[in-house]
Amino acid sequence: MRISTAALTLLLVLVQSSGWTEEIAYGQAEYLASCAVCHGEGGRGDGPLATELRTAPADLTMLSAANGGDFPYWKVFALIDGRYVVPGHGTREMPVWGREFLAGDEATYGPIGGEAITQERIHALSDYLATMQR
Ligand code: HEC
Repeated sequence: MRISTAALTLLLVLVQSSGWTEEIAYGQAEYLASCAVCHGEGGRGDGPLATELRTAPADLTMLSAANGGDFPYWKVFALIDGRYVVPGHGTREMPVWGREFLAGDEATYGPIGGEAITQERIHALSDYLATMQR
């Protein structure tokens, strides 16, 4: 069987885009489960718990705007993970997700698999946040 280059390209695009759609859907589910309570469903920092915190939860739709129009992917990844962020002044009110996720993921997938799954969850969240920018 001979497959034309165009068909092959289309196939590749479809496979890649379905993977991407899944990644975003996964990130969105994770976001609604873990983040919306503080940051709000739409990411604007207006979740039901927001008024209970000393620091207002960040408006997550403005991360690109605050970075000259580019989504600061690795900075966002590190901020969500939280395990390697040098603590600033005062205490962080945002949970350290790298630790929270890893506790459960390690129990299910072991230390190496658990770390991989935890990182994948943080990637999915970062990718989802990238889609929220205005
Ligand atoms: C308990 C409330 C709470 C929850 C739940 C929470 N956050 Fe936060 N988040 C905050 C607060 C408050 C800040 C502001 C800075 C600080 O206190 O560290 C923040 C800051 C951030 C920042 C940094 C924004 C910036 O401009 O520096 C990112 C990114 C972020 N949160 C993403 C998330 C994601 C993704 C989740 C879910 C996995 C989440 N947050 C869950 C309270 C929360």
